[in-house]
Amino acid sequence: MENQLAVVLDFGGQYSHLIARKVRECGVYCEVKPYTTSISDLAKLNPMGIILTGGPKSVYVEGSPLYDSSLFELGVPILGICYGAQLTAHLNSGKVVKAKKAEFGGVTLNICDTSSLLLKGIEKTSTCWMSHTDFIAEPPKGFKVTASTENCPCAAMENCEKRIFAVQFHPEVSHTEHGLKVLNNFLKDICGFSGDWRMSDYVDNTIKALKEKIGDKKVLCALSGGVDSTVSAVMVHKAVGKNLTCIFIDHGLLRKNEGDSVEEMCRTKFNMNFIRLNAQEQFLTKLAGVTDPETKRKIIGEEFIRCFEKVGKQLGKVDFLVQGTIYPDIIESGLGDRAVIKSHHNVGGLPDVIDFKDIIEPLRLLFKDEVRKAGIELGIDEKLVWRQPFPGPGLAVRIIGEITKEKVALLQDVDAVFRQEIANAGLERSISQYFAVLTNMKSVGVMGDGRTYEYAVALRAVKTTDFMTADFAHIPYEVLNKVSTRVVNEVSNINRVVYDITAKPPATIEWE
Ligand code: XMP
Repeated sequence: MENQLAVVLDFGGQYSHLIARKVRECGVYCEVKPYTTSISDLAKLNPMGIILTGGPKSVYVEGSPLYDSSLFELGVPILGICYGAQLTAHLNSGKVVKAKKAEFGGVTLNICDTSSLLLKGIEKTSTCWMSHTDFIAEPPKGFKVTASTENCPCAAMENCEKRIFAVQFHPEVSHTEHGLKVLNNFLKDICGFSGDWRMSDYVDNTIKALKEKIGDKKVLCALSGGVDSTVSAVMVHKAVGKNLTCIFIDHGLLRKNEGDSVEEMCRTKFNMNFIRLNAQEQFLTKLAGVTDPETKRKIIGEEFIRCFEKVGKQLGKVDFLVQGTIYPDIIESGLGDRAVIKSHHNVGGLPDVIDFKDIIEPLRLLFKDEVRKAGIELGIDEKLVWRQPFPGPGLAVRIIGEITKEKVALLQDVDAVFRQEIANAGLERSISQYFAVLTNMKSVGVMGDGRTYEYAVALRAVKTTDFMTADFAHIPYEVLNKVSTRVVNEVSNINRVVYDITAKPPATIEWE
């Protein structure tokens, strides 16, 4: 089981993550590797199948991502998708050219060779999803064309003898009618995967490996109470028990009762060594009078480091530091020079202040939905597993202008009402992130027979998969109405509620 690995070789395509996810959906364990992985490192992984992804370039243009052509001599079955298909043709002396007409979206796929191993069991005509301007004009020697579309004479090709396959369309996209079947054919019939990989295997194998790696050494985990760090901590705890210590910094900018519920879970449910540092006053003092968003973020990042230094000194030397890094974090950090929109604060500064030998990242190969599945396998409360993302600087970036204790309490109350009503309406899982923002604006209202002059709060709710782009969630008016009524009635000092209907871009999800 452990050796049954599929590798997705990433050439920078939009759907590389999706391919990996779909492969796992087929019950096959898979890892995404950048195309810069050397052929010898790739071979060392001993994969049973390799998938070449799409990519934004043309194979015939100088500087486009290519690969060592001995890849095709490894004897490992290969499936090229989109750019990966063109690369397969190019590296095997086929011809790739710019098409007269680009194909984008759903088109009809015609299978012209029913003996195809890859397309076995698929109707002769079906819909596939295309997104290309180049196409394979001449397949390499030894390859036969197995499918075409109106504008793409080689929509699929294969060399059965060498077990090399290629499709111009995207089988990983749900708009491709039989995409999953294509992937299943490749993985199970061609590569020979058993297809019985489950998340519980990942959890069990990781715990076993962590036990071996850590032995009786000491481990420290910076716990935020978010899904990733909690699942990481629980996994390590199952492996080494009391040799793990979790540090939770309560900066006083968490959601209502959040600090207590994280502490209770760790102490009672998981019986972990747990240190909660109550640093509410410390953070508020440093933030007093600060209104600039970037300055707020920097102050909070720095205070976190100071807190860890303090606890680190008490603990002395530790051998390992646990971090809740997940796969998209790795991919994103590999993508280079993007503009800094906001200084994201995570625990990135920790390595400098804690004396440790090595970092442990038990989730570094998983995607968010898989982390959630792992969390369920580990017996973590569903409520926690399904928590929405929460920024490191917490409510500080949701209170516009100066932060005070009173404003924090006010926002916590509004946010709690909003979350309750979203839960009551059964919308929790269909909205990616939802929260309240305390604007720095007061407006006139009327309550009873009197004039009021109080704060306006904004509700923000978005739908997104990658959090890089987002649409505002179309929450039913009745739900918004209920939230608005409850907020102005139950939370003092608020007399107006507005709903943020901006997408990202041009806005961001958080207000600061
Ligand atoms: P924006 O506001 O940039 O947010 O559209 C995108 C996602 O990132 C979260 N976010 C953060 N997460 N540290 C984090 O760990 C941060 O400093 C931070 N700032 C924003 C935000 O909640 C959203 O999910």
